[in-house]
Amino acid sequence: MSGGLILSIESSCDETAIAVIEDGWRIRSNVVASQVALHAPSGGIVPEVAARAHLRWIVPVLNDAWDDADAAWDDIEAIAVTYGPGLAGSLLVGVNFAKALAWVHDRPLIGVNHLEGHIYAAWLRDPGEADRADPIFPLVALVVSGGHTFLAEMRDHLTYRLLGSTLDDAAGEAFDKVGRLLGLGYPGGPAIGRAAESAIRHDRVFPRAWLGDSFDLSFSGLKTAARRIIAEARADAGHASDPDAALPAEVVADLAWGFQDAVVDVLVAKTIRAAEETGARSIVMGGGVAANGELRSRLTGEAEARGIPLIVPRPALCTDNGAMIGAAGARRFAAGDRSGLDLDARPSLPLAVR
Ligand code: KG4
Ligand code: ZN
Repeated sequence: MSGGLILSIESSCDETAIAVIEDGWRIRSNVVASQVALHAPSGGIVPEVAARAHLRWIVPVLNDAWDDADAAWDDIEAIAVTYGPGLAGSLLVGVNFAKALAWVHDRPLIGVNHLEGHIYAAWLRDPGEADRADPIFPLVALVVSGGHTFLAEMRDHLTYRLLGSTLDDAAGEAFDKVGRLLGLGYPGGPAIGRAAESAIRHDRVFPRAWLGDSFDLSFSGLKTAARRIIAEARADAGHASDPDAALPAEVVADLAWGFQDAVVDVLVAKTIRAAEETGARSIVMGGGVAANGELRSRLTGEAEARGIPLIVPRPALCTDNGAMIGAAGARRFAAGDRSGLDLDARPSLPLAVR
């Protein structure tokens, strides 16, 4: 790919993020303004609040990304922006900001699918990081985020064959809901990961939805079971009649471990089987839940045992960021893709599978 710089913008959910990417994969700068503190009091993302926060932060984030990259507009070859899937109001801010920059600076605009961004995070290198091998095709990609969960096969760049996806909740959604039931606040995913580390009893009390030989996934049964198991634990602790009473920390830790173990079991087993059945030469994983320590170490162990290289970005590149949009955008730019200044936000944009 060419050696120019790509300026990339991500605002699909609750992070305002802008990056500058060099050569298609080297991070020059990557700035993320998180809205977690803003949404914590309501226990979840309020779309209007998120869109307003993007408007408030997008210019300061650009300024920081620009300063960190030490770049000039002459070096910027194109502007990449997430145009879906995501929250309509949030997407609109990034898309219109990118269109304005593209018009003012007369640069090509590239609309990027957020899910493709999570996959292409596997190609990113940090500033100063030694070069290493790229993921090898054919590969299997596991994307586990707050809104999406699927397994896809890639035989080449930018081409996807869907192997399976969630029939109900996304993995991150399940983490967030069970985190709330356990009184761990928002977002539940990282909180469950932390709580599970101090678990003492490692009981396998949560169900696994194997769905036969299918590569589809399901987390709604697990969520229902979690509601029942947590209610029973509450009754055991003498809080049956008070749904707001906090459970003892050691009980929360054991339940967090049990839930996480059930999710990780299914994700790891299906990913490994998908890789074996398709003859994959590598595996990549991305999306917010890929920041989970237990999932990372279990998938690493199973892939190593079979001699299949696994590429998982560091946790901050698994959760939403601008650099991943730059990596996917650079690949699309190199393939000749250009979007017009009439690019629109597409809240339900699917991954272009064949
Ligand atoms: O990819 P992402 O940042 O945003 C979406 O595209 O949805 O994913 C956010 C999701 C949230 O559900 C969050 O709870 C989950 O990723 N998550 C985690 C961890 N860090 C973030 N889940 C489990 N363990 C973590 N360490
Ligand atoms: Zn995401």
